[in-house]
Formats: sequence, C-alpha cells, structure tokens
Amino acid sequence: ALTYAGNLENLKSIENNANYHFVKGSITEKSLVSKLLRQWNINTIVNFAAESHVDRSILGPEAFVETNIRGTFVLLDEARKYWLEENKNDQHRFLHVSTDEVYGSLGETGYFTEDTPYAPNSPYSASKAASDHLVRAYHHTYGMNVLTTNCSNNYGSFQFPEKLIPLMIHNAINGKELPVYGDGKNIRDWLYVTDHCKAIDLVLQKGAFGETYNIGGHNEWANLDIVNLICRVIDEKLHRSGNEMTSKQIRFVKDRPGHDKRYAIDAGKIEREMGWKPQIHFEEGILLTIDWYLENTDWVRRVIDGEYLKYYSDNYDTKK
Ligand code: TYD
Repeated sequence: ALTYAGNLENLKSIENNANYHFVKGSITEKSLVSKLLRQWNINTIVNFAAESHVDRSILGPEAFVETNIRGTFVLLDEARKYWLEENKNDQHRFLHVSTDEVYGSLGETGYFTEDTPYAPNSPYSASKAASDHLVRAYHHTYGMNVLTTNCSNNYGSFQFPEKLIPLMIHNAINGKELPVYGDGKNIRDWLYVTDHCKAIDLVLQKGAFGETYNIGGHNEWANLDIVNLICRVIDEKLHRSGNEMTSKQIRFVKDRPGHDKRYAIDAGKIEREMGWKPQIHFEEGILLTIDWYLENTDWVRRVIDGEYLKYYSDNYDTKK
C-alpha cells in the first residue's frame, strides 16, 4: 500500500529476484486481492500487513480498524472464495502475524501463554485482537487452514524510527531529546527481527491448522534500562564523555494513555513443538542494530524527510 511505513528501498536487495513481485495496492481492495489470487494461483498467504504503532492508534484509530480488521477480513474472505469454493485447494494456508498486545498487560510476575484470555487496551491491540478472532472463525466456520502467531516487541535493522529502539538510537546519535514515557519502568520482551522471521517460517511449515503460537525473546527490559544501554554504547562509539554524555539527552515526558505495564511471553509451545529458540542475545542484537543505524544514516535521513516515498514513482511506476 506504501503508507508512511512502506519503504521500497528496504527491498532493494531482492528487486531483481524472480520470486519477488511487487504490486501496489491495499489488502482492503477486494477486487485486487481476488484478481491476484487467481493470476498467480496463490496457495499461501502470510499476513504481515498492519498499522502497528500504538501512539498513532491513539491519535487516529480509524486506519487501524480499516487495515487491520477490514483488511484481514478481505484477505480471508477472498482466499476462502478462491481456495474453498473454486479450486478446492487443500494445500492452502493462511498465516496471520499478530502481537502479544492482544493479551493486555501483565503485573510484575507471570507470562502470556496461548491460553491467556484476550484483553486488548489500545485501539491498535483491539484491532489486532479483532483480526485474530476473524482468522480463528474462518478455521472453525469454513475449515480454512489458518495459523496465528503472536510475537513480542521486535527490533533490528530497517525499523521505522518511531518505535522505541530506532527512535532512541536516531535521537541519541543526533543530539536530540530522548523522550521516556512516564517513569520508564514499563517492561517489554524484545525479539530480534530475524529470530521472529525464522519462527514464522517454521510455523508456516510445521504448525497445526487452527492453532496459535506465541513467539518471544525471553528478554525482558524496562524502557529506561534500554535507553541507558543505548546511551552507553553511543558514548563509546562516538567517544562522548563528561557534559557530552548521551544520557543527558534523556527527558521524562507525559505517559502514554492506557500504557500497558508489562509484556512477557511464554514461548514454550513453539520451543517444545518445533525446537525454536531465539538465537540472537539482546547484548549482541542491540550492538548489531546500533551499528546498522550508524552505518545507514542516509536511509534514516530519507525516511525522516520523506524522500523514500518517491522511490516507487522513480523506480517502479513505469506507466509514467
Ligand atoms: P513501542 O516501540 O511504541 O512499542 P509498543 O508500544 O508496541 O510496546 O514502545 C515500546 C515501549 O517504549 C512502550 O512501553 C512505550 C515506550 N516508549 C517511550 O518511552 N518513548 C517513546 O518515544 C516511544 C516511541 C516508546
């Protein structure tokens, strides 16, 4: 759809791969989804498409309802019509990528399991919860081969600099303020992006239809501890000390409304059933990520000033 978060520059490395084909359009467009399923005889859908930023969902929930709920419905329903009514393709599968935020917030102890009742607190998590329920219903009602994964917070290269880690790295490098919401004691469980992708691939190959799988990093951090860690690494890499120390940029700001206190995933099911475990430890992953942002300041600049949005018209839009 190439919304603000869609950046074709991120796919430069596979632009000439014969297995990759880009179509500009939205999952909410029924006729387009229906046409593509038939044109390519698609038997597998992995639904990564979503509005994903909680702060944006607080400022403007409608796009979340439209893309996350209606978009998932359109994908499911067009796939149902094609797979179940027309070509009776029993090899089909629909994997829906979701979030642990559907389970709500934890206190100081305990973990989210696949049996934790849904209790979403933000318009974002409510929209993902609704889409998860639709996916579940298409299995029980129509017998569609569905799989759902619920992951913890992702981090790594190419992440849009609105999420905590890339935002803090970018602001730290550039001498800008580091806005910590509330007291900075909210806890998230961080998962390196390639570990997440490997888990999704495994579930796609080996998952039992109708089941859900939690994917987490066994890696809980309070926000302020992450920000301090980023500051220390940047100080070291950019040789800052004394009054120049990056931690001086930290600002405690007004808390996010309805801010969930703690997320932590019990990923025992995917480990027991498929042998998956995260491979990248946080200490290694955060260094890889900081190095990536230091080496790709031009990518960040184009994202921040909006230049990346022109990549499609400059390189893909051949109709011009
Ligand atoms: P975020 O990356 O937005 O992910 P999510 O809300 O889906 O967990 O935020 C991660 C945590 O960091 C969350 O507790 C909110 C906090 N946060 C800040 O303190 N400051 C910020 O500028 C941002 C973007 C997030």
